[in-house]
Amino acid sequence: MSALALKLRNVRKNFGSSSIINGLNLDVIKGERQAIIGPNGAGKSTLFNLISGFYQVSGGTIEMNGHNITNLATFRINRSGLSRSFQVTNIFPQMTVFENIRCGLLWSMGYKYSFWHLCNQVRHLNEKAEEILERIRMTQRRDLPAGLLAYAEQRALEIGITIAGDAEVILLDEPTAGMSMSETERAVELIRDVTENKTLLVVEHDMSVVFDLADRISVLVYGEIIATDLPEKIRQNQEVQEAYLGKETL
Ligand SMILES: Nc1ncnc2c1ncn2[C@@H]1O[C@H](COP(=O)(O)OP(=O)(O)OP(=O)(O)O)[C@@H](O)[C@H]1O
Ligand SMILES: [Mg+2]
Repeated sequence: MSALALKLRNVRKNFGSSSIINGLNLDVIKGERQAIIGPNGAGKSTLFNLISGFYQVSGGTIEMNGHNITNLATFRINRSGLSRSFQVTNIFPQMTVFENIRCGLLWSMGYKYSFWHLCNQVRHLNEKAEEILERIRMTQRRDLPAGLLAYAEQRALEIGITIAGDAEVILLDEPTAGMSMSETERAVELIRDVTENKTLLVVEHDMSVVFDLADRISVLVYGEIIATDLPEKIRQNQEVQEAYLGKETL
């Protein structure tokens, strides 16, 4: 059995009387790129909020690299090596592109607790931020307020912020939503590049992205994973076809 980056067992989440995640099991193998697909409202973003500690689970357990991270504070989960992006762009629009990246770095370094220590590391921090800028191909946009970037660039910046802290496990929620075909292609290339030698869990509606990027695919329907398999197996899976009928062409 391969080592697991994430292991979810019998995870449940209720909002009041509505049960959104219903005893969900999920294995994400260390080093794989796994996509989660499923209809609108299936609970994909909720699942990300549970894994990353933004929501508390109503039941079940979540392990990362063999450690129980269930219901830990978000910053603890982040500092244990998990970083996530949001479905809706989440950047500081008035800060420059460079400052946005630096903020991502500071957050993952725990600046609140080691301010003085950090002052000695400013040069290192700036170098690291420049490195990430280059990686996301935004050096030329460095000093622009992030709010002035085109939408696709804002999404790329968000990916830069997400990977800034060198987390081993990266969660991306619909990173190519709202992009044109060529923007999507560039985004996929970027995601592939920045997740090399990391573990990626990505929620995506665009099936061409899913089949291009994912080593394995999980299908989430009504708060349960109904299948996890290789892309070609998922494409042929009858239950998956039915869950998607009229929605997507696999
Ligand atoms: N904080 C919350 N309070 C109450 N209900 C919520 C909350 N967050 C999510 N839900 C509900 O949980 C269900 C699943 O939502 P979620 O956003 O996880 O779906 P999704 O699979 O990400 O959908 P989409 O593909 O549209 O992004 C929805 O019915 C939503 O209204
Ligand atoms: Mg969602």
